[in-house]
Amino acid sequence: MSKQQTMLVSEEELLRQEEFSHRVKEILEMRYGDHMPVAHVHSYGCQQNVSDGEKIKGMLARMGYGFSESTADADLVIYNTCAVRENAEDRVFGNVGALKHNKQRRRGMVIGLCGCMMQQEHIVHRLQKSFPYVDLIFGTHVLHRLPELLYQTLSTRERVFETPDSDGVIAEHLPIQRDGSLKAWVPIMYGCNNFCTYCIVPYVRGRERSRTSREILAEVEQLVLDGYKEITLLGQNVNSYGKGLEEEINFSGLLRKINSLDGDFRIRFMTSHPKDATPELIDTIAECEKVCHHLHLPVQSGSDRILREMNRHYDTESYLELIRYARQRIPDISFTSDIIVGFPGETREDFLQTMDLIRQVRYDSLFTFIYSKRVGTKAASMDDPTPAEDKTKWLMELLEEQKRIGEQQLQRYVGDTMRVLADGPGKAGEGYLTGRTEQNLIVDFPASEELIGSFVEVTITKALNWALLGEINTSHR
Ligand code: 5AD
Ligand code: SF4
Repeated sequence: MSKQQTMLVSEEELLRQEEFSHRVKEILEMRYGDHMPVAHVHSYGCQQNVSDGEKIKGMLARMGYGFSESTADADLVIYNTCAVRENAEDRVFGNVGALKHNKQRRRGMVIGLCGCMMQQEHIVHRLQKSFPYVDLIFGTHVLHRLPELLYQTLSTRERVFETPDSDGVIAEHLPIQRDGSLKAWVPIMYGCNNFCTYCIVPYVRGRERSRTSREILAEVEQLVLDGYKEITLLGQNVNSYGKGLEEEINFSGLLRKINSLDGDFRIRFMTSHPKDATPELIDTIAECEKVCHHLHLPVQSGSDRILREMNRHYDTESYLELIRYARQRIPDISFTSDIIVGFPGETREDFLQTMDLIRQVRYDSLFTFIYSKRVGTKAASMDDPTPAEDKTKWLMELLEEQKRIGEQQLQRYVGDTMRVLADGPGKAGEGYLTGRTEQNLIVDFPASEELIGSFVEVTITKALNWALLGEINTSHR
């Protein structure tokens, strides 16, 4: 059997889960009669998690649940958790704590937790001991077994814990209840092999594994037929897409195949690890008209010493070289990045090099984080002498500088005509719509609501500090 086949959840297993779905449905019908039980599903963290949340909702809908945005009227609450930083975890503990009252008020209510936090022993232990009203805990590798696990919970009324460690599987053809009708997430690979020293992801999401291009293309094709206009391909490191597959394909090859599908839609992707981002990728973005001119390329630090400590496998020079090449090939390309401030042992000098780098690159926006110690990672055992107050001060400096750069970056679009996907009512005032450009910039413009869901050409008239303002090009009105 090929490596790919051993990772795929078998047809038999998926059928078995469907059988459990029916059984849950029967239990719910008995318990709730004509009144449809309500589930509240909330995903914390990254888009991969949001995408998993859509599968959870797909499976629950099949079992007969309706959905609510609030926990107050929920018969089932599922929190799909994130482990990437401590504050994400704290939020989950806080919100789970608040559910105690809901549970007391609502007979038979079920509380379930899943996602990345559940792959950490110390977290599961704490939940087991201090949160006795949590009924169901399942990890990232058994998402597709939700029907079986919920059946166990409902039929035995005992606590169910299922958090096996695994290199990871791929479950195709799960039902998906998508959050939007214009923009869709499509995972192309799961897991991560990079072991950046600060990061918990490789420990909680298993090894890198790619979906076949056939499955991905079929999904995208259907989404386009269903009227979706923006497809975001997801992976912890999309640039290593294809490794381990039987077919000979890399990420650029996949982009080209998706680009050649019929239909008026745009393609985004995230995240690109700079060590694997190549000129070939840049050429592909330049040559594929559906691929957006935006690259999220997390640099993490502007200090080569810190990058080595982080195990990132690139240096600032090679990073900047790629940025230069991309700007030369695609003049209107936009860059965004993630930055960690206060990695163990980071000095003021290291931090100033990060400041220097963001001035050189001139990102359109940044996602900035203070380093958060993650149990079990290599960085967790490194010396971390910098006081927390210093790290906070540095972060503020970084934010201040990026605010200045971001505002200047927005100014350069004034006068340009940009293709915008109108996606809802705007914030700029009555009668405005809002949308995103290829560069993922927000543009508000006066237009009628019928245009929501279509691409429009907008000429930029003004840059505010949070977005652009524009007017629809009269030839397209
Ligand atoms: N502390 C702070 N930020 C982190 N990230 C990942 N792990 C940590 C950590 N331990 C950030 C990185 C990554 C983004 C998704 O989260 O910048 O790119
Ligand atoms: Fe996503 Fe990583 Fe958070 Fe898991 S730990 S939800 S993979 S950001």
